[in-house]
Amino acid sequence: GHYDTGGYEHYLLKEISEQPETVARTLRGRLDDRFHIAHLGGLNMDARETRSFRRVKIIGCGSAYYSGQIGAQLIEELARIPADAEPASEFRYRSPVVEADTLYVAISQSGETYDTLAAVQELKRKGGRVLGIVNTVGSAIARECDGGVYLHAGPEVSVASTKAFTSTAVAFALLALHLGRVRDLSPADGRRICEGLRRLPDQIKEILALEPRIEELARKYAEAPSMMFVGRVRGYPVAREGAQKLKEISYVHAEAYPASELKHGPLALIGPEMPTVAIVPDDELLDKNLTTLGEIRARGGRVLMVGHRVADPKLADDCVVVPRNETELDPILLTIPLQLFAYHAAVALDRDVDKPRNLAKSVTVE
Ligand code: G6P
Repeated sequence: GHYDTGGYEHYLLKEISEQPETVARTLRGRLDDRFHIAHLGGLNMDARETRSFRRVKIIGCGSAYYSGQIGAQLIEELARIPADAEPASEFRYRSPVVEADTLYVAISQSGETYDTLAAVQELKRKGGRVLGIVNTVGSAIARECDGGVYLHAGPEVSVASTKAFTSTAVAFALLALHLGRVRDLSPADGRRICEGLRRLPDQIKEILALEPRIEELARKYAEAPSMMFVGRVRGYPVAREGAQKLKEISYVHAEAYPASELKHGPLALIGPEMPTVAIVPDDELLDKNLTTLGEIRARGGRVLMVGHRVADPKLADDCVVVPRNETELDPILLTIPLQLFAYHAAVALDRDVDKPRNLAKSVTVE
């Protein structure tokens, strides 16, 4: 088909702005308000099999991998199954042990990324059970998997992934709800997550309305040669994706670290020339995160805090306050302002936003 920027200056901004609708499409028809469960018709797994997995291993490349890290945390929290994510590009080269009681999940927007496809093929060869979380219907990875969840986010044109990232995290919330509700997750928690998911599209609209302020902040911070992104636990994959977006499209050097690891090395980098974007949700780690901000400020580091409240000016120079959802779902919302931040930093630096140098939308070769 033919797609245009629909009046937006770039595909990237169009795709960021579409997220209230694309998230609604990922959710459509999949939430059951009676039993507080998720209906995922494409999984091709019966209840016995769904209960049998003792581990979940998630693979993908680039932003797909970072969304997989959010997914692993959702599965651990909601379904209480040990889960982790790994770059598909690494997984396929290290002769992984393929276990019969592990559920493998491959993530790909395009469905054509060669490293991910090769990892799926290797898993299948060794008898692994593989689900795909894929945007492109009928793509190579979708066809190779035993079943899966389509994102229905619509075509993503800009090289840097935004709406597919968000929809992947939403698809993982659905998968985690599905796995959790045939295992330990209570009806009350199921309801809480269903209701939280339904709130996402409107809350994304609220975040998009912050764009003028985020643009101002991006212009201010884009002058720095290098930026640090930090977050703890749920905030860490958000920090990684925020750093990835900035690197990809603005070419500003960015590092992402768990906030807890800062004092074990990278704190040496902090000074007035290296500002920090800190992901600080109102979760059980709030106090720990605020302590970290104090440590950064004490070294002369500037701090842009992205979270649920305005911080003490002694701890943060600037704040972006996003609406709260359920704690487990907050990473999905916290990523959106970082997309806008990277976009406006790239525009301020006059970069080729939709086609950054050296990158391809999907890497279909080895
Ligand atoms: C490329 C793109 C990234 C993307 C990755 C995975 O490297 O530049 O933006 O995250 O591929 O793509 P996929 O289509 O498999 O999600």
